[in-house]
Amino acid sequence: MTVTAVAKAKRPASPATSGSTRPALLLDWYDRHRRRLPWRPPAGVRPDPYRVWLSEIMLQQTGVKTVGPYFEKFLARWPDVAALGSASQDDVLRMWAGLGYYSRARNLHACAVAVLRDHGGVFPDTEEGLRKLPGVGPYTAAAIGAIAFDIRTMPVDGNIERVVSRLYAVEEPLPQAKPRIGELAATLLSPPRAVDNNSRAGDSAQALMDLGSSICTPKKPACSLCPLNADCVALMRGDQETFPRKAPKKTGALRRGAAFIVTRGNELLVRTRAEKGLLGGMTEVPGSEWLAGQDDKVSLQQAPALKGVTRWHRKAGVVTHVFTHFPLELAIYTAEVAARTRAPEGMRWVPVATLANEALPNVMRKAIAHGLDL
Ligand code: ADE
Repeated sequence: MTVTAVAKAKRPASPATSGSTRPALLLDWYDRHRRRLPWRPPAGVRPDPYRVWLSEIMLQQTGVKTVGPYFEKFLARWPDVAALGSASQDDVLRMWAGLGYYSRARNLHACAVAVLRDHGGVFPDTEEGLRKLPGVGPYTAAAIGAIAFDIRTMPVDGNIERVVSRLYAVEEPLPQAKPRIGELAATLLSPPRAVDNNSRAGDSAQALMDLGSSICTPKKPACSLCPLNADCVALMRGDQETFPRKAPKKTGALRRGAAFIVTRGNELLVRTRAEKGLLGGMTEVPGSEWLAGQDDKVSLQQAPALKGVTRWHRKAGVVTHVFTHFPLELAIYTAEVAARTRAPEGMRWVPVATLANEALPNVMRKAIAHGLDL
C-alpha cells in the first residue's frame, strides 16, 4: 500500500521510460538477480536443448520448487535424449509419479523416441519443427526456441501475463486478452546485439518469469524493487494487484466415488488404468466410477468381488483431490483377505514396501495413505 500511495503522489501520468530501454533494463536486472535453477547453465553459456525441453515439459503445469528434484532425478538416470528415448514408457511413468498430469510423461517419452528416430537425436531448432513434437504446444515451442536456440520469440506463461498486464494495464480479461498480452510481451524482447547477433531472447523471457515470481507477485508486489517501475501503468494508477483481469472460472461439478483398499498380509491390491484418458497407464487401487452426484451405495456396489469379503469397512472422512476439470471426493473402504486369495482378473498384489516403484498418481497416494493409516 505504501508503495502505491507514494507512486500515486509522485509519478507523472505517462510512462517515463522509452519503450526501447525496457528490454535492456530487464536484462540488466536478470544479470544481477537471476534465480539459480537446475536447468539453467551459468550466465552466458548456451543451454543444452535436451535439458531445456525436459525442464519445460515438467514446468508446464508444475512449479519450479517441485520440478527441481524430478529434473535432477531424470537427468541422472537419462542424461541425454538418446538415453530417454531408449527407456521403457513404464520406467518413465514410474519416475514421473507424483508430478501429476501424466499425459506429459507419455508425451515426454514419445517425444524422445521421435527426436531419436526422426531427427537423428538432435532437437529441431525452429518453433515450427518443435511444435510437431509430441507434447510440445505453442508455449513450449516458444520457450525452448527462445532459451535453447535464441529465437526471438516470447513464451507467455502466467507470470509473464501478470507482469505485462500490469505494465500496460490491460483491461481485457484473460483468456481473451492472451493475443494482446502476447504482442505486448514480445516488445520486451531485446534486439540482436551487433557484436554477435545474439538476441538473448531466452534471457528476456526468463527475466520476466523471474520478475513475476519474485517481485511482480499476485499479492503485495514489491514494486519499489522492480526494474520497470518507472514505466508501469498499473503502478501509476495504484491498482496493480487487480491485474490480470480474469473472466470468472467455470469449474466442473464435484464428482464422487469409492476406492477399495484391500490388503493380503503386507500386500495391496492394485490395477493399471486404461492407457488413454485421465491418469492413463497409471497404477490405482480398485474403485468405482467417479460421477457427479453419485450415491455412496451405488459406488459401494462396484467393489471388487473377492473371496471371503462380505463386509467392507468404511473409513471415517473422505479423500479429496482437485483435477483440472473437476474436484473429486472418494469414500475409502478397506478389507483384509486371507493369504493366497487370488487377485480378481486384471488386478495384482504388490508389496506395500515397494509401492514407491509404482506409477501412483497423487490421488491414489492419498487414498492409500488414508486407507492404511500411513
Ligand atoms: N517456467 C517455465 N519455464 C521456466 C523457466 N525456464 N524458468 C523459470 N520458470 C519457468
